[in-house]
Amino acid sequence: MAVRRLAPKELQPASFTFTAENLAWAKAQIEKYPPGRQQSAVIPILWRVQEQHDGWVSEVAIRAVADLLGMPYIRVLEIATFYTMFQLQPVGKKAHVQVCGTTPCMLRGSKDLIEVCKHRIHHDPFHLSEDGNFSWEEVECLGACVNAPMAMIWKDTYEDLTPELLNKVLDGFASGHPPKPGPQIARQYAAPVTGPTTLNSAAKADANGKSAPAAPALTDAEPKKASESANVQERPAPKPPMGDATATKPPKGAS
Ligand code: FES
Repeated sequence: MAVRRLAPKELQPASFTFTAENLAWAKAQIEKYPPGRQQSAVIPILWRVQEQHDGWVSEVAIRAVADLLGMPYIRVLEIATFYTMFQLQPVGKKAHVQVCGTTPCMLRGSKDLIEVCKHRIHHDPFHLSEDGNFSWEEVECLGACVNAPMAMIWKDTYEDLTPELLNKVLDGFASGHPPKPGPQIARQYAAPVTGPTTLNSAAKADANGKSAPAAPALTDAEPKKASESANVQERPAPKPPMGDATATKPPKGAS
């Protein structure tokens, strides 16, 4: 991994101000945490800052986040420079392409995807294309290995790529009509590429010889949506506390 440093001084803006909408949003995030724990909101707020500031985080923005959260500047700097989800220098206006180069993607052809980026965007990562619209980098596993090789652009993943399909994806961003995120082939999410292999024989007869009704075909009409955050995952409802079983029992020896 490349050393992650802030952009040189000549690229740094002189100031950063939260938009009214983003400031209100940031304050709402902070309120989710108990008093004294407001620093826990640092990552979502940095992400919002990055979205506001053309896809990258500047030094003044890091200071603004630290001031908002009452954190030492160095702590926010450490976080911004540690996580590769934060870009520290200007990126392409239309797309910053993060190509996964970890083993499953590498075995499935990520090197060819990187060649596309080198030819189409710039020979070197983190450099803007001539028109300033694109940039690229190689990243470590982005968690979509089943659909290798893949790339992430902004918040979305584009999966099951070939050089031709990556070119199509980039054409979409160039024309302002990005394609549907997710698999770029006829695959449903991460299901087997040859189609479902289990629970697909609806015609199995039951003990009385009757056939089970056919299950509705799975459809993939809806574009892939950003996944729910962890705090809205389904989980079992907590059980109410048990009553005090001794409360209704008569004391020992009482008749
Ligand atoms: S190895 Fe590429 S997404 Fe996991």
